[in-house]
Amino acid sequence: MVRIAPSILSADFACLGDAISRVEPVADLLHVDVMDGHFVPNLTIGPPVVAAINRHTDMVLDCHLMMTNPGDYLEAFRRAGADWVSVHVEVDGTAGLLDEMEALGLHAGLAINPETPFEAVEPWLSRLHHVLVMTVHPGFGGQRFMDEVVPKLRTIAAHRHHAIVEVDGGIDVGTVPVVAEAGATCFVAGQAVFGQPDPAEAVRALRQAALASVDARP
Ligand code: DX5
Ligand code: ZN
Repeated sequence: MVRIAPSILSADFACLGDAISRVEPVADLLHVDVMDGHFVPNLTIGPPVVAAINRHTDMVLDCHLMMTNPGDYLEAFRRAGADWVSVHVEVDGTAGLLDEMEALGLHAGLAINPETPFEAVEPWLSRLHHVLVMTVHPGFGGQRFMDEVVPKLRTIAAHRHHAIVEVDGGIDVGTVPVVAEAGATCFVAGQAVFGQPDPAEAVRALRQAALASVDARP
């Protein structure tokens, strides 16, 4: 199964509801990038905005917490309507964070930065709902896809586990075949969706590219 997750980071924040309504009929998840100005050098949105989005849409909310202290906010994100939540493996206390996410009934995921080795996520893979493999340095939308991450992506996807393999950063119709061939099945895209004149058509194009590549896997 292929999932397309538009990232609202590239949407017009003054017209977020409209942007979401355009992709809701065609996308599988809505990717919400939460940045704390500490784990990454940028600030975005928090639980109040997630709650507002949740009132506006029935989409599954995929919250990517680029935060140094995600544990302080997990309950708030749950109350706001988060469904999938990813915390970074580079942050301390992974075991406790996963315990808490599971106790809250969240779909628990771990995100891994480009320079972080496979070994950091390996011990956790069997208990994850999804693993979010960063193909850019987190913090900003519209960056260039880092193809040096592909071998690690391949290793993660080939490992024995049931976690959904999600990729994030520089994903477009040109890079989807590369990451799909390496084993990704869930594709986050910001600029390639909301940076396009027709975001719904952009989601369809990404899905078509992903399906073609997944079908072509040996
Ligand atoms: C980067 C974020 C991404 C970002 C992706 O820190 O985690 O989700 O929105 O944007 P694009 O698809 O434009 O690289
Ligand atoms: Zn993200």
